[in-house]
Amino acid sequence: KLPRSVQIKEVGPRDGLQNEEKMISTEKKVEWINKLSKTGIEYIEVTSFVHPKWIPALADAVEVVQRIERNPNVTYAALVPNLKGLERALEGNIDEVSIFMSASETHNQKNINKSLEGTFPILKDVVTEALSAGKKVRGYVSTVFGCPYEGSVPLDQVKKVIDKLFQMGVYEISLGDTIGVANPRQMDYVLTELIENYSSENFALHLHDTRGMALANTIIGLMKGITVFDSAAGGLGGCPYAKGATGNVASEDLIHMLHEMGIETNINLSTFMDALRVLEGEIEKNFPSHQLQIRS
Ligand code: HMG
Ligand code: MG
Repeated sequence: KLPRSVQIKEVGPRDGLQNEEKMISTEKKVEWINKLSKTGIEYIEVTSFVHPKWIPALADAVEVVQRIERNPNVTYAALVPNLKGLERALEGNIDEVSIFMSASETHNQKNINKSLEGTFPILKDVVTEALSAGKKVRGYVSTVFGCPYEGSVPLDQVKKVIDKLFQMGVYEISLGDTIGVANPRQMDYVLTELIENYSSENFALHLHDTRGMALANTIIGLMKGITVFDSAAGGLGGCPYAKGATGNVASEDLIHMLHEMGIETNINLSTFMDALRVLEGEIEKNFPSHQLQIRS
């Protein structure tokens, strides 16, 4: 039985832009987020309070968060890697904090410069402080379905990281297929195992579409009762510290598929696609989104 509605968490302004070499101006980012905020979407991950040397494209995080027009029906979230990041996030008065780490040692090291064991206490402090500041905290686990450096990642290791993040107090964990290697049978197996210990309501899927399998994997997620999916407008995205990681599943394609299946998202697809016009001429590549290709 498929869910009647799902929530889409738009990660384009964060995952989408973090990988772009060309700097997008703060003004354009703000304009895009403001337009996205009027499409019916309920959740936008707008930036990342990571080290500006590691992700120069999002160095203006505080400014972006301070300048956007807040729609009270939208939750504005951002990545936070440590207490320094949280300090900046609170300065911008972000609504919600997302902590993140990998299930595999090597990707974690390359991405956030720490071992898995060394990351737990840092994130625990972030969650504790964020919760006491009245912010909800979401968790990401990357490389759940495969690591660009280590290949397959033992499910027990994934479970260990998930357990730790839930113990810290995150309300939901977004399972990252960072390099788009998951296949539907694997998705079914992994979700079955994880839902046994928790519940489908505890998880979201964050699928990169590197091999064109994200929508197929989404179907398995829906069949397993997952009702929260991350996606990026245009199919932008990728992790600069994961070799070969390309875009997230395109929000337009996900929204289109769900609507065709009679599953509500609350998003107006046409105004959603119009919002991306703000980035025309800013991002000099063809968006991988099918829906945008049909329209143009
Ligand atoms: P580090 O160099 O180990 O940091 O970086 P540190 O704690 O040793 O501090 C060194 C200096 O950086 C200090 O300054 C800190 O204050 C400063 P100093 O005292 O030397 O003058 N610093 C900061 N400044 C601003 N903001 C901060 C911050 N933190 C420290 N937050 C760190 C560690 C985690 C900061 C770094 O490795 C980093 O920023 N990494 C982020 C990489 C990243 O953003 N990757 C992409 C996002 S993850 C992703 O895409 C996957 C996801 O989409 C899910 C999926 O697809 O699977 C979420
Ligand atoms: Mg990602």
